[in-house]
Amino acid sequence: MPAMPNCLRWWGFHGWVRVGAEIGYAAHPDARGRGVVSAATRALAEHSLRPEPLGGFGFRRLWMHIAEPNTGSHRVAAAAGFSLAGRLRARSLVDGAPTDTLIYDRILGD
Ligand SMILES: CC(C)(COP(=O)(O)OP(=O)(O)OC[C@H]1O[C@@H](n2cnc3c(N)ncnc32)[C@H](O)[C@@H]1OP(=O)(O)O)[C@@H](O)C(=O)NCCC(=O)NCCS
Repeated sequence: MPAMPNCLRWWGFHGWVRVGAEIGYAAHPDARGRGVVSAATRALAEHSLRPEPLGGFGFRRLWMHIAEPNTGSHRVAAAAGFSLAGRLRARSLVDGAPTDTLIYDRILGD
């Protein structure tokens, strides 16, 4: 079994006062389908929303942008406790075709 953390990448950027951060992820094709991305994203979200005095990053809001046809990514978002928050029409290009992007978010207390 490959070392899962090396198969995952995630990134976030800090709002000017840690108001929020965007989460993204990708897994090596050989590591997909094992629930690792869902578990890692949930753990990252919980750490990111935990207040700084409790050892977390102290963000108030996290969000993701996911192209509508990306079923696996929608499942990851739901499994990590994110809720559908909106739709950006024709924001993405998938195979050259304009495609809606869905926004998911998770806030402190979710
Ligand atoms: C999206 C991605 C990270 C999901 O990785 P993964 O290893 O399949 O994730 P998990 O194993 O945690 O599975 C999450 C869920 O999605 C489902 N799933 C994964 N791929 C799927 C697909 N193509 N179609 C339908 N469901 C899918 C899994 O069955 C699982 O469902 P469950 O929660 O009911 O068990 C991976 O496909 C990937 O790296 N894709 C390319 C990069 C990418 O699209 N990143 C997201 C950009 S928004």
